[in-house]
Amino acid sequence: MKVLVTGKLPDEIISTLNQRHDVVANRFDFPMPREEVIEQVRDKDGLLCMITDRIDDELMEQAPGLRMIANYGVGYDHIDLASATARGIWVSNTPGVLTDATAEVALALILSVARRVVEGDAIVRTGKFGNWAPMLFLGTEVSGKTLGIVGLGQIGKAVARRAAGFSMRILYHNRSRIPEDEEKALNATYVDLKTLLSESDFVSLHVSLNEQSRHLIGPEELRLMKPTSYLINVSRGPVIDETALVAALQDGRPAGAGLDVYENEPEQAPGLTDLSNVVLLPHVGSATVETRRRMASLAVENLLQGLEGTPPPNRLNCGFR
Ligand code: DGY
Repeated sequence: MKVLVTGKLPDEIISTLNQRHDVVANRFDFPMPREEVIEQVRDKDGLLCMITDRIDDELMEQAPGLRMIANYGVGYDHIDLASATARGIWVSNTPGVLTDATAEVALALILSVARRVVEGDAIVRTGKFGNWAPMLFLGTEVSGKTLGIVGLGQIGKAVARRAAGFSMRILYHNRSRIPEDEEKALNATYVDLKTLLSESDFVSLHVSLNEQSRHLIGPEELRLMKPTSYLINVSRGPVIDETALVAALQDGRPAGAGLDVYENEPEQAPGLTDLSNVVLLPHVGSATVETRRRMASLAVENLLQGLEGTPPPNRLNCGFR
């Protein structure tokens, strides 16, 4: 069968796919332009796509033979799932394999923004580290503080487990409460969003992007945060109203932010990059050699099964075939 892979995957993964199918793959490590994806997908049975591709109804309309879309990533807000389902196309993602890597980046952002790691690094590199002094580069201690986790799914829980190592008090808000024994094991207390925002020293976002979570954090929510608190986002950019965040940070409430994702990636809202109280990463939550390899293997496993007509293990839709 014919397969399109829109991102650069390890050679051995492409070779495995090539042994069974006729593969067209992006050889460059930047997104395949949309026109090219549309052109290439026309005669394909399978698509292995990246989170930077918009897989909408218009695109699927151009690919009448498409039966399987394997997403290289866990978030799938870029795929029109309803349209794929209506067309009888399986869609899968790669849950689980990027949990630890993404939780690590949330912790990295918490520590970096609180202890001013990036600012300190710049001072040393630019030869401005004159001497040690009692007040030099004072940050905020992380240990013992309150961490509010919005979205206690796999990644949120992995963040909570790591935060236990810093003796943090864990509050969480979720669509629904997790079982009591899990709450106990994580030492996590369920609260409403307002309480979480007003009591937390660090608020870390781990929800998936959908119509309910778009701009979940806007001007009103930011006003509820403590002036000494920090906002961390490794989920999806549009969960935060980024323009409102810039204004809030300029006013000093919250005290800072650590962001891996942006509302209009790869752009940032005007003013964000001028702020010194933010740490900004280029959407690297899952970017480790180990994790990216596991994501590639899992996406290919799903693709192969879907093409064979077997329900893929990480399917996101069902009810047909
Ligand atoms: C995902 O899998 O959704 C991540 O954002 C990709 O790194």
